[in-house]
Amino acid sequence: MSGWNPNQYLKFAAERTQPCRDLAARIAVSSPRRVIDLGCGPGNSSAVLIDHWPDAEFTGLDSSAEMIDRARREYPRQHWIAGDIAEWAAASDGQFDVVFSNAAMQWVEDHAAVYPRLLSRVAPGGALAIQIPGNIDALPHRLMREVAASPEWKGSFPPGKVREWHHHEMEFYYDTLAPVAARLDLWATEYLHVLADVEAIVEWYRGTGLRPFLEVLETDAERQRFAADYLASLRPHFPPRAAGGVLFPFRRIFLIAYKGSNL
Ligand SMILES: C[S@@+](CC[C@H](N)C(=O)[O-])C[C@H]1O[C@@H](n2cnc3c(N)ncnc32)[C@H](O)[C@@H]1O
Repeated sequence: MSGWNPNQYLKFAAERTQPCRDLAARIAVSSPRRVIDLGCGPGNSSAVLIDHWPDAEFTGLDSSAEMIDRARREYPRQHWIAGDIAEWAAASDGQFDVVFSNAAMQWVEDHAAVYPRLLSRVAPGGALAIQIPGNIDALPHRLMREVAASPEWKGSFPPGKVREWHHHEMEFYYDTLAPVAARLDLWATEYLHVLADVEAIVEWYRGTGLRPFLEVLETDAERQRFAADYLASLRPHFPPRAAGGVLFPFRRIFLIAYKGSNL
C-alpha cells in the first residue's frame, strides 16, 4: 500500500478544509502577487486560496502524483508542481507573497531547519502561514499506538517501522520563528466535528493518521483486521449522542509569520 488516495481524503472535505479557511482569513497580506500552497493535496486548500485572492498568480505543490493529478484536473488553469516541500524550502528560485500550508507539514522532518527556510522564500511584506494537527496525544492517536503495541500486533510493527508525524508545541515554533519574523501570530483551535458514527472516525484516519500503520502491513486482510481492532478500541470512548452522531474533537495549531517589508 502506498500513495495518497484523494477520494478517501475528500470524504471529510468540509471538516478538513475549515481550518484552511480560518487560516487564510487571518493572513494580513493585501493583494498578494504570488501565492503557493505547499502539500496542496487534491486542491481543496488551493480552492480556498484561489477564491480568497483571485488576482494572485497561484501555484500548488505536492509530492503525491495522485493528489497533484486530482488538483490539476479540478483547476487546470493554475500552476501545479510535483515536488517535495523541504527541497522547495531549500531552493532559492523566487519568493512568494504568501507561502501557505494546511495539514501537510506534519509529514515533513526537521521543522527547526525547514520553517526558517520557508520564511526565507517569503517576499518582503508577505507571510508564511501554516496549520498542522496538534493532537498527537489525543485519544484516537494514543489508541492507534496502543493497538499496534498490543501482543497481537507488536510483531508487525518493529520499532522505527511506522512513519512518525513531525510536530511540536507552540513554544517551539515561537522560539524557531520569532527571531527571524517581523511578527508572529500563533494559536490553537479545537474543532468539534460531528461525525455520523464511530466507524467514521476510522474512515477519517484511513485518509491520514492511520496510513503510516496500514502501509507497514502487507496484505489487505491484515489491514482490515487492524482497522477493525482500532475501531473496537475507539467504540467505548465515542458513544452515539442522543441528538445523533458522535463528537470528534480535533485540536490544530496555526501560525502566521510575517516578513518585514524592508528585508
Ligand atoms: C493531509 S493532506 C493536506 C491536503 C490539503 N492541503 C488540505 O488542506 O486538506 C497532506 C498532503 O501533504 C502532501 N505531502 C506530504 N509530505 C510532503 C512533502 N514532503 N512534500 C510535498 N507534499 C507532501 C501529501 O501528499 C498530501 O497531499
